[in-house]
Amino acid sequence: MNYKELLQPVRIGNWHLRTRIAMAPMTRSFADDTTGIVGEDVVAYYKRRAQDGIGLIITEGITPSPRGKGTFGVPGLFTKEQANGWRKVTDAVHEEGGTIIAQLWHVGRLTHPDLTGGLAPQAPSVVQAEGLVHRLRKPFALPEAMTTQEIKEAVQQYAQAAKYADEAGFDGVELHGAHGYLIDQFAWEVTNRRTDSYGERTGRLRFMKEVLAAVGAAIGVDRVIVRFSELKDDQPSYRWQDPEAEIEAYLKVFREEGLRVLHPSTNTFNQPLAENLTLHQLIRKRWDGNIIGVVGLTPSSAEDAIRAGIIDVAAFGKPLLANPDFVSRLRNDQPFIPYESKIHLKELL
Ligand SMILES: Cc1cc2nc3c(=O)[nH]c(=O)nc-3n(C[C@H](O)[C@H](O)[C@H](O)COP(=O)(O)O)c2cc1C
Repeated sequence: MNYKELLQPVRIGNWHLRTRIAMAPMTRSFADDTTGIVGEDVVAYYKRRAQDGIGLIITEGITPSPRGKGTFGVPGLFTKEQANGWRKVTDAVHEEGGTIIAQLWHVGRLTHPDLTGGLAPQAPSVVQAEGLVHRLRKPFALPEAMTTQEIKEAVQQYAQAAKYADEAGFDGVELHGAHGYLIDQFAWEVTNRRTDSYGERTGRLRFMKEVLAAVGAAIGVDRVIVRFSELKDDQPSYRWQDPEAEIEAYLKVFREEGLRVLHPSTNTFNQPLAENLTLHQLIRKRWDGNIIGVVGLTPSSAEDAIRAGIIDVAAFGKPLLANPDFVSRLRNDQPFIPYESKIHLKELL
């Protein structure tokens, strides 16, 4: 097959990308667990994808705060030393002509004091998650409800992390507002029981809006992407009652904050959500900015979706773990190695 669209350069947001292929954000847990600093293995891992010709690399989730860490080995962007570690990654990617943005990820309630310096997880409300913390294998701890002051501090931590990302040479940041983590815990009626201005139907997106505004003010809104979703990692069966109203509420916030690039996440790219349309199609109907498609895409389904005008860029996750030379294989019409977690999660290939 001829992947003419995927291999085309494109301008989205503030970036000129070499191809329309993005690397989806993927936690790898290879940072130093105590300092949250990434090393040479992480440099080589991202450099290899840049060498291959990936248009946009979105990093693994990086925590903006010691309390935002959800598993072992998650890197941070809340100290100067962490930013210095990332500088080596961004330099290596830029040397290869790539573009790289940092995903900012605060897990909120989905963690345990063993990972957060002995402190209880932070969340909009005291609602404990069911399930076990990734790799720690202990139940998610009972979170503390954030005070208004703590909410303001968290917003500032995101803005500071964006400044560190800028100092570290990143081309921008992606806010992880999806999958049931802190920003999404504010957005979700199950985890947000607040009755103040951050709660109820009208206030649930306020936290996200304030983070977007603060991060936009710190580095420029044209260098910010946002990820959002119905999908919750700790409750995959959850469904929006009225998908179109939910989408509309998000888009209103994104328009007000001047965003240009969205990265909506879902269970499966081609699964209809409402009116027989998929999440990305429902957004495309209402959004004239850029859209990154993701989840279960293959090169041919991605090519079709770009050609149909549904998305502008296609993100691949697991295929890029199994195939560090994904773009070369695509260009040369070579077969892809199927992803196997037991093999491909173990090392930073
Ligand atoms: C090992 C692994 C780690 C992931 N970590 C993150 C993460 O840190 N942040 C995030 O937003 N999504 C994360 N995801 C979800 C991916 O970004 C992507 O949405 C998902 O893998 C579906 O795309 P795919 O079918 O191309 O793999 C992760 C996925 C995998 C497989």
